[in-house]
Amino acid sequence: MFSNLDDYREAAKRFLPEFAFCYLEGGSEDGVTLRRNRAAFERITFEPKMMVDVTAVGTGTELCGKYAAWPAVVGPTGLNGLYRREAEESLARAAHRFGLPFVLSTASTSLLEDVRQCSDGELWLQLYVQRDRRIAEDMMARARGCGYSTLVLTVDTPVPGQRDHYARTGFKLPLRWTPRLLWDVVTHPRWTATVGIHGIPQLVNLARSAGLGANIEAQAAALGSQMDMSLEWHDIAWLRRHWQGKILIKGLLSVADAKRAAQHEADGVVLSNHGGRQLDGAPSAIEMLPHVVACMPRGFEVYIDGGVRRGSDIAKAVALGAKGTLLGRAPLYGLAAAGIDGAIAVLAQLNRELETCLRLLGCADINALTDAYLLGNCVSALEFE
Ligand SMILES: Cc1cc2nc3c(=O)[nH]c(=O)nc-3n(C[C@H](O)[C@H](O)[C@H](O)COP(=O)(O)O)c2cc1C
Repeated sequence: MFSNLDDYREAAKRFLPEFAFCYLEGGSEDGVTLRRNRAAFERITFEPKMMVDVTAVGTGTELCGKYAAWPAVVGPTGLNGLYRREAEESLARAAHRFGLPFVLSTASTSLLEDVRQCSDGELWLQLYVQRDRRIAEDMMARARGCGYSTLVLTVDTPVPGQRDHYARTGFKLPLRWTPRLLWDVVTHPRWTATVGIHGIPQLVNLARSAGLGANIEAQAAALGSQMDMSLEWHDIAWLRRHWQGKILIKGLLSVADAKRAAQHEADGVVLSNHGGRQLDGAPSAIEMLPHVVACMPRGFEVYIDGGVRRGSDIAKAVALGAKGTLLGRAPLYGLAAAGIDGAIAVLAQLNRELETCLRLLGCADINALTDAYLLGNCVSALEFE
């Protein structure tokens, strides 16, 4: 029905009230880093190889020790219930259908137990740590009990980035019904009838571990003023005591930090600027990728995210040494546009594009994709003047 991700994005924009679309789409401050995420991918040029048998192409790989049908992960995003009912259940099902892991955010609007109930797929848990460490400990215990396999500790959010659109659209938690917000909702009747009518979604997952009940004010504080800003590298040892599976550290952007993660025995890192929503002026993950990969020990997994909108972006990341890419907004565009069918359609589109890209590159197996398939100067092209 739609030809590319932009079409889903446009449909999402039509369906959602402005405050919800801006929450999904917006970056921090002037959006410099947000734009850089896309610009960096556009600067990478392929060097295709012709006359190669690409009748069959293989995209299967291993992510955190488990088979994945292609090197992508449906990444963690909070407050997904703003777009559709049972949003996380839909994203988990869509990911499973394509043989991909799904990462449930600490700020999810569905319980991690309910997401497990509806999918036999690979589930990872993203963790934000509150000052009261018992909250994170409880969430890890719950996730472990339901077979979540990998922990993704997000470390780029000691405080939320400055997002100017919150003030413009009137969005904050708890929501205060201003005339502007009411008008926004009234003028999006399809959303109001299917999502808004049920009230603003709650951060139920966090609420359960923090014992907060339905108090949205307290839930918002747990993600804001009660975030643990004192988190340091030695705290990975604390995580290890509570999590026996793989641990990835998400939100790093430098070689030095990636090395520290390896020294502290994380299993891997997700290079990420949080989709341009945190520190404006930060580099993009794909720019830092070749530098980080060059310094990491064998077996240490390096993932990236930020700006992945085409199957060819996934190929570029893998060619530069990424184990896989996390998808942030891409599946959300599909979800908001058309519910679970939209999320499935977006993943199908990216999967098709990746296979097409491999065939056009003359690379029959994604595991053989290296920077030999990129134009020689593209790493220096990534170094912005
Ligand atoms: C609406 C939204 C909510 C997000 N919430 C979280 C979150 O709860 N935890 C987290 O680690 N990252 C969160 N992120 C960051 C994503 O995991 C990911 O790093 C980013 O979206 C990648 O960029 P992309 O959207 O351009 O693909 C969020 C991103 C978006 C767009």
